[in-house]
Amino acid sequence: MSRTLIIGASGQIGKKLTRNMLNDGQKVAALVRDKNKLSEFDDANLSIIEADLTKDFEHAFEDCTQVVFVAGSGGNTGADKTILIDLWAACRAADYAKNNDIKHFIMVSSIGADAPSSGPEEMQPYLVAKHMADEHLVQRGLKYTIVRPGTLTDDEPSEQITTERPSNKDDAKITRADVAKALLYIVKNPADSNLVTELFNGNKSIAQALK
Ligand SMILES: NC(=O)c1ccc[n+]([C@@H]2O[C@H](COP(=O)([O-])OP(=O)(O)OC[C@H]3O[C@@H](n4cnc5c(N)ncnc54)[C@H](OP(=O)(O)O)[C@@H]3O)[C@@H](O)[C@H]2O)c1
Repeated sequence: MSRTLIIGASGQIGKKLTRNMLNDGQKVAALVRDKNKLSEFDDANLSIIEADLTKDFEHAFEDCTQVVFVAGSGGNTGADKTILIDLWAACRAADYAKNNDIKHFIMVSSIGADAPSSGPEEMQPYLVAKHMADEHLVQRGLKYTIVRPGTLTDDEPSEQITTERPSNKDDAKITRADVAKALLYIVKNPADSNLVTELFNGNKSIAQALK
């Protein structure tokens, strides 16, 4: 059975995705800095790998077939962590995936990563990091899905999404829970070809929006 490596499994989306995948009976390798952050999980299908993304983490890829990169430096850290996590760790994950013959790499990127110069000035360093990490993945020659959610919220999931960017930028949001549900769908239903898609709250089922 295939095993999916979730990089950033202790994060807000990462934990929800880990839960969704285990509830679905899937095997998960969860990369976290601190295994205590996953103490609520008790499942034979879960292996926890403690690793720091600023160090070597290639061992985490062993026996995995898919990867979801959902780590991030977060909004309360500085430019150093943006470079080390959002850019460099994401690039290294793509390199490790190539070395380890990973069949499908799912990158959680961000709205605006396609055109960093058009984003708000304070977001541009982050958007450049996301842009370059996405480009690096594309150039590795792996099968990939790049997911670019709008602004993340902690609202309840509606399971109604869209891949079409709303005309009003205040509506360019999506719940973390719906992103986690969409990621489960993508893990289980990899598109036939490489895909880059934005994700927002919307009015289609996840399957309809992503088919
Ligand atoms: N905020 C937004 O509106 C927005 C919009 C679009 C896309 N995104 C992207 O969505 C993704 C997930 O968002 P989220 O809210 O779920 O993020 P989050 O809760 O901040 O989770 C980030 C994860 O990265 C891990 N991490 C950070 N540094 C690490 C390190 N050195 N070694 C190992 N793990 C490390 C964290 O581990 P710890 O638990 O140990 O800290 C955590 O598991 C990110 O890639 C973010 O850039 C965000």
